Amino acid sequence: MLNDIQETLYTEEQIQAKVRELGAAISRDYEGRNPLVICVLKGAFIFMADLAKNITVPIALDFMAVSSYGNSTRSSGEVRIVKDLDTSVEGRDVIIVEDIIDSGLTLSYIIDVLERRNALSVHVVALFDKPGRRTVDLNADYTGFVIPDAFVVGYGLDYAEKYRNLPFVGVLKPEIYSS
Ligand code: PRP
Ligand code: MN
Ligand code: MG
Repeated sequence: MLNDIQETLYTEEQIQAKVRELGAAISRDYEGRNPLVICVLKGAFIFMADLAKNITVPIALDFMAVSSYGNSTRSSGEVRIVKDLDTSVEGRDVIIVEDIIDSGLTLSYIIDVLERRNALSVHVVALFDKPGRRTVDLNADYTGFVIPDAFVVGYGLDYAEKYRNLPFVGVLKPEIYSS
């Protein structure tokens, strides 16, 4: 698995430091409230777990899965709900947790769904952002790292369902996804 990685982009320590920062900012902003924190499966599962431990206000957790990429490196442009929330978002402050924003299609779809369900507020925390790839006008409220347009994996991010369990984030060797 490690042989497929060209270079490390962010070490485990760098990521953990950033996650602590994001948790502190969210804890400050949501003081006195009880947000519903939504993990976008599968990519955000590790970030969600680490971030939740760094949020000091009471939160509820829920999980949602949407599909857009499949096993390709490009978004199909189509988004659909694969696993819906168990919780009603009506009247709730919602924080969506994403590992990465690329085209923005996944998040704009989810935000739209949650707003139509009458969430009180919808904010986004994304660990990684590739603004150069955006096809819809969308920005996170909390962003970890802005990254270039390279194919990154690890810390939840996959290529064909592999590499999610790497504790760091690295750039995949081109021969892995071009073969
Ligand atoms: C990836 C990533 C984001 C989304 C970002 O998920 O985790 O959810 O793509 O891309 P976008 O901004 O172009 O929509 P993916 O669809 O690969 O599913 P996964 O989380 O299960 O890997
Ligand atoms: Mn995802
Ligand atoms: Mg994926």
